Amino acid sequence: MPASHLTVGKLVVLGIESSCDETAASVIGGGRIRSSVIASQLDIHRAFGGVVPELASREHERVIIPTIRAALDRAGISDPTHQLDAVAVTRGPGLSGALMVGVAAAKALSMAYRIPVIGVDHMEGHIFASALEMEPPELPAMVLLVSGGHTQLIDVQGPGRYRLVGQSVDDAAGEAFDKVARLLGLGFPGGPAIDRVAALGDPDKIRFPRASTKGEFDFSFSGVKTAVLRYLESNVDAVVEDVAAGFQAAVVDVLVRKTTVAAQRFDSRSVVLGGGVAANSLLRKEMEVACGRLGLSINIPAPASCTDNGAMIAAAAVFRLETDGPSDPGFSVDPSLLLPYLT
Ligand code: KG4
Ligand code: ZN
Repeated sequence: MPASHLTVGKLVVLGIESSCDETAASVIGGGRIRSSVIASQLDIHRAFGGVVPELASREHERVIIPTIRAALDRAGISDPTHQLDAVAVTRGPGLSGALMVGVAAAKALSMAYRIPVIGVDHMEGHIFASALEMEPPELPAMVLLVSGGHTQLIDVQGPGRYRLVGQSVDDAAGEAFDKVARLLGLGFPGGPAIDRVAALGDPDKIRFPRASTKGEFDFSFSGVKTAVLRYLESNVDAVVEDVAAGFQAAVVDVLVRKTTVAAQRFDSRSVVLGGGVAANSLLRKEMEVACGRLGLSINIPAPASCTDNGAMIAAAAVFRLETDGPSDPGFSVDPSLLLPYLT
């Protein structure tokens, strides 16, 4: 019988995440988060206006052991060999040098603790973050993954059964937030800054374009970014709050419309959000309203579970351990890893 909800099994797993600019570790067990520690590198990259890969790797290397130690301590793991079923780590997609730090640490712990190691797909982690919520998503679910590197609509028919319904043909949604924030002088990362500033502006003052794409459920965000640039060039006295609010409304409008139309077309029972942009307050609100109107249940993880974290990696690992077993310890990172999509 097909699963009715996306859930997480009982295994106790240490999850490690180091694919981009967060060093994170978490212990989950019995389908619940026992600890989650996230060391953000934002202060290091802010001065450069974006993530500098070399600096990211060095910082991961510096903080990864204290981060893992804190996650184990907070979860009450004093005897990892007997208390942990496995150690899981993101093996891709992401920055190769950054991924290698996490993978090397996970392999070393696996050897020291004599427990299995498993390499996890970061995007599958974002999908499984929703399964750790009090109300796991009903299946099939239409999952909108919106991060700094990806914008994808995925029809999740069951654990491991994913159909790619649409994706961005140019910039990822988070990338658009980051680039527009830079144009507005709001600094890095742009998403949270625009979210904050837009709350003070009028979203109807400036109407930015909602791009159409060849694929009905694909996305394009480079046009709206260029439209903001043109607007700023020809309006020297532009009100930053109104521009931010207008831009955010345009992006959220498209994300909500395409996701809900796709959910209806694919007979989804629920809509799920994941990835850093899912922390956006307008997106959360508008998606909830739209789903309520259509009678779709909705699962939006807490903001700290939407952005990169170790718990989501451990959750995806529990499913993979139960279905495929652990990885061969010789596995390597894959910066452009792709989920095994159904065709
Ligand atoms: O998933 P994530 O933490 O890392 C990646 O895997 O990329 O996503 C980071 C992205 C950044 O582009 C950041 O600007 C965006 O998520 N973001 C937001 C918000 N918080 C983070 N975008 C819009 N509104 C937010 N509140
Ligand atoms: Zn991510």
